[in-house]
Amino acid sequence: MRVAILASGNGSNFEALAHQFQAGLLPGELIFVFSDHHDAYVLERAQRLNVRAFSFEVKEFENKAAYEKALLQLLQEQQIDLIVLAGYMRIIGKTLLSHYSNRILNIHPSLLPSFPGLHGIKDAYEYGVKVTGVTVHLVDDGVDTGPIIAQEPVMILPVDTLESLEEKIHQTEHRLYPKVLRDVLLQSEKNKSKGE
Ligand code: GRF
Repeated sequence: MRVAILASGNGSNFEALAHQFQAGLLPGELIFVFSDHHDAYVLERAQRLNVRAFSFEVKEFENKAAYEKALLQLLQEQQIDLIVLAGYMRIIGKTLLSHYSNRILNIHPSLLPSFPGLHGIKDAYEYGVKVTGVTVHLVDDGVDTGPIIAQEPVMILPVDTLESLEEKIHQTEHRLYPKVLRDVLLQSEKNKSKGE
């Protein structure tokens, strides 16, 4: 299975996954990382880890559809089987969804369907819930709505600050995402060999 990671910013999840690929712990190949921002920190991480990286920005295209078409072309040229979103801050449009239906994974920093959207950690903290967590799901045409593959809870303790909660969530993400990706890759390999 040939995997591409899409990320817009910091890239700590990308780095956690890249380490696992490079250690031979994931049954697939990390082909490249793509960012929709030329100055995203994830691109520096990619360089440091020797992972191929591409970037282009929506503003360089006539419209969002043209941007996505270019991204699809890149994914197809590189024969990507599975797309892994890791802090990719754009909605996946029809162009990508129709070609990669059920083959796009996302990680979200809350227990969906609670606290979808851009600020899952802060929203849970400010609401005052005592348990939040991390969700890995398949991407559909909604915002953080696709079928859930795995979840892990994270407790919010009285001593927690927003910062300490963020830290706990990210640590959980870095552990959960590789584990789930491993299962997804193994399952996809099995399906492939059965000709499904
Ligand atoms: C993570 O919290 C992830 O759940 C969300 O975006 C954040 C990306 O963090 N989708 P990083 O760029 O991987 O550090």
